[in-house]
Amino acid sequence: MGITKICCIGAGYVGGPTMAVIAQKCPQIQVTVVDLNEERIAAWNDEDVNKIPIYEPGLSDIVKEARGRNLFFSTDVEKAIDEAQMIFISVNTPTKTYGKGKGMAADLKFIELCARQIAKVAKENKIVVEKSTLPVRTAEAIKSILDNTGNGVKFQILSNPEFLAEGTAVQDLLNPDRILIGGDTTEEGQKAIQALVDVYANWVSEDKILTTNVWSSELSKLTANAFLAQRISSINAMSELCEKTGADVNEVARAIGMDSRIGPKFLKASVGFGGSCFQKDILNLVYIAKSYGLNEVADYWEQVIIMNDHQKRRFSNNIVKTLYNTVSDKKITFLGWAFKKDTNDTRESAAIYVADDLISENAKIAVYDPKVSRKKVLADLDYLESRAADENVNSVLSFENPYEACAGAHAIAVLTEWDEFVAYDWQKIYDSMQKPAFVFDGRNILNGSDLEKIGFVYQAIGS
Ligand code: NAD
Ligand code: UGA
Repeated sequence: MGITKICCIGAGYVGGPTMAVIAQKCPQIQVTVVDLNEERIAAWNDEDVNKIPIYEPGLSDIVKEARGRNLFFSTDVEKAIDEAQMIFISVNTPTKTYGKGKGMAADLKFIELCARQIAKVAKENKIVVEKSTLPVRTAEAIKSILDNTGNGVKFQILSNPEFLAEGTAVQDLLNPDRILIGGDTTEEGQKAIQALVDVYANWVSEDKILTTNVWSSELSKLTANAFLAQRISSINAMSELCEKTGADVNEVARAIGMDSRIGPKFLKASVGFGGSCFQKDILNLVYIAKSYGLNEVADYWEQVIIMNDHQKRRFSNNIVKTLYNTVSDKKITFLGWAFKKDTNDTRESAAIYVADDLISENAKIAVYDPKVSRKKVLADLDYLESRAADENVNSVLSFENPYEACAGAHAIAVLTEWDEFVAYDWQKIYDSMQKPAFVFDGRNILNGSDLEKIGFVYQAIGS
């Protein structure tokens, strides 16, 4: 019998969009997304579909179509677990901030809570799907909790990591490069795998649905993120060498990307990668390698993070150096705060670290981002605990209008590659700024020679 009721624990950047697409593509399946965060669930249920908590192009239309039909958002976690045949766990797995593995290992407390709650509630056999990104062999721990604390019912654990990128989540979900499903090699395991394959087969062709053992699936997710991040750190390392040698990193990226063995994607030099996952997943990988005594493996991957931290710091140092070695009381405008375009997510955004460095030098930071509020900017800075919260309040100016944000500024730093920045009236911006007017393009999106013709001093990454 096919699956007719799915529950997803965690209504975040993964749970929300993923389940919305499953509900849209499988009208015969009832999908309930649950979360402990009442505010988040209320926002998912907001009558005005533009107020759902996550901004992703195309997402509000899908939610509008499926919500109330076969897509539901609720805080009643137990009821949804009880009713579902298949339960996705999509809760957050952040880097641990305490105890053993602090600053490196993944914090699995939310995962364990889910497993205990499923075990407590389940009165019938269920398939539990790891959708969150997890350290390899987590399924073993989940299984042990389920089997030892449950009501004697049988559980199958599948690993089904998510590969969507924010900003393109809907497209990635509708047309995935692949769907990865790991499960037990036993007969029951294979049946559980098939049940999940059948869900995806409603819109994904079967040749794109890959099945493996659980450990390969868990480790493939960490490996994919490590490889992607490694490409960015590799090109960013070259960007510094380009700046010293007269080479242009955009030209270098184009030249190497045309080699079909290398390929053109993920070679965009930048102020550094952000986002909730690359850093945490690589740190987790490093921790796992170290825990097996594989120190060379750990050091190899840790360098990706070291390079990324260096790139962010290099960007802020360069601003201070170029502005005559002092930014004290100077207004520096940040265009963009989100970690990439087309998302309202700011987790680990390079902008936070660059702002933190500049505020430590007494700069005033004026922020304009089309999707990020002042409240979020301040919360991000407060989280670093570099100074008292009121000092951040006094150091950050926020604007709803980019032209006002730039007026009177000594310099502009582009931190996010929002398309709208390219289309601005840059002459008007120049006229309103202090002179010389500097632009530090942390995303290499602006046309430097056009800006120089206007009179700007323009600096891009890696040229
Ligand atoms: P998120 O923080 O946006 O969402 C997680 C949600 O889970 C939160 O709303 C939280 O309140 C809820 N939650 C935590 N514990 C709970 C519990 N016991 N019961 C009910 N709800 C609970 O996180 P996210 O970005 O969606 O990431 C989730 C997982 O997916 C992570 O492991 C992440 O690594 C992985 N992932 C994320 C992305 C991405 O682009 N964000 C992509 C692929 C994989
Ligand atoms: C990334 C992966 O791309 C997804 O496949 C994965 O599912 C996800 O992590 C996850 O596990 O969370 P995401 O972080 O949402 O997705 O966004 P990316 O497009 O990968 O961008 C990450 C960061 O790298 C951004 O700050 C982006 O601006 C930066 N980046 C990306 C570059 O600096 N240069 C590039 O060439 C590409």
